[in-house]
Amino acid sequence: VDPVQFETGIDAALLAGATRLRLVACGTSYHAALMGRHFLEHWARIPTEAVIASELRERPLLDEPGLTYIGVSQSGETLDTLEALRHVHKQGFPILAVTNVQGSSLTRLADETILTRVGPEVGVAATKTLLGQVTTLAILALELAQARKTLDEPTLERLAHELRRLPRVLEETLGREQELGVMARQLAQAEDLFFLGRGVHVATAYEAALKFKEITYNHAEGFGSAELKHGPFALLSPETPCVFFVPAGEGRQKVLGNMVEVAARNAKVYAIVQGETADLEGIVDGYVKVAGGDVVGPLAMSLAGQLLAYHAAVGLDRSVDMPRNLAKSVTVE
Ligand code: M6R
Repeated sequence: VDPVQFETGIDAALLAGATRLRLVACGTSYHAALMGRHFLEHWARIPTEAVIASELRERPLLDEPGLTYIGVSQSGETLDTLEALRHVHKQGFPILAVTNVQGSSLTRLADETILTRVGPEVGVAATKTLLGQVTTLAILALELAQARKTLDEPTLERLAHELRRLPRVLEETLGREQELGVMARQLAQAEDLFFLGRGVHVATAYEAALKFKEITYNHAEGFGSAELKHGPFALLSPETPCVFFVPAGEGRQKVLGNMVEVAARNAKVYAIVQGETADLEGIVDGYVKVAGGDVVGPLAMSLAGQLLAYHAAVGLDRSVDMPRNLAKSVTVE
């Protein structure tokens, strides 16, 4: 069997000398960047941060040798992302683009581009493009891990195998649509709700909340579940359902602990869960099971979050594809 080879097609020289990475993006693309940061640090062992483009524009540019920027933008036309990268481009920092649109302004600004190739996305809410961005950043992280020898061959093989399973995992998650619809209709009744997770699923929680508020117009917030005790606990009541993203392995016990804390404050507790479910008994008011895994896990969780928002919005008779006050691409200040 040939050894597995991860290739994004970019010139390896661009990242060969990178000692730090900074992902720059807005909205859903920022959440994809947060997930990408997780992969790049865990697998390629490169110190990485994800920053909101509009905030980067306000920061002073410091002398940071070895820093490479990665702009993540579905459209490649988001003004804040472009302006932030123009800002750093003037200082000569190398830029890699991750975008869905060939020939977009971002591709013209960047030194190298990886196209996510998920096809045009018509709906204002980013859905398949989030999945494409996260998958692309995972492959980039694995390519760098392979080049830098930060993962051994069996681990690379296992992760490659997972990636090959991705279409099936997404199909399976779509197969949970009816159960997710039942949960969504319960969530849609609340004026405020919270999505919670730890580790990579802090980003999953942020994204689920963004999707939910964007297309249902109900208030939803995403938090790292360990942050609850630092303030958001004060918001909990029987009227504030909490949806937890519960992983199968590392971090599960801590998430379960956070769920118990929330249940003790009389808030309804729901779970999108990977792995076993016996330990949820007595804690949750409802759960839906999705596939686990280092690569496919966050993608299955994110798709479940999208389906919750979709079914809640349909139930509330919202315009799912064209939510009010929003544009597909934000090309102005
Ligand atoms: O085209 P971009 O990825 O740069 O767009 C960034 C955001 O405007 C976009 O993700 C926005 O948050 C979506 N409407 C979210 O669904």
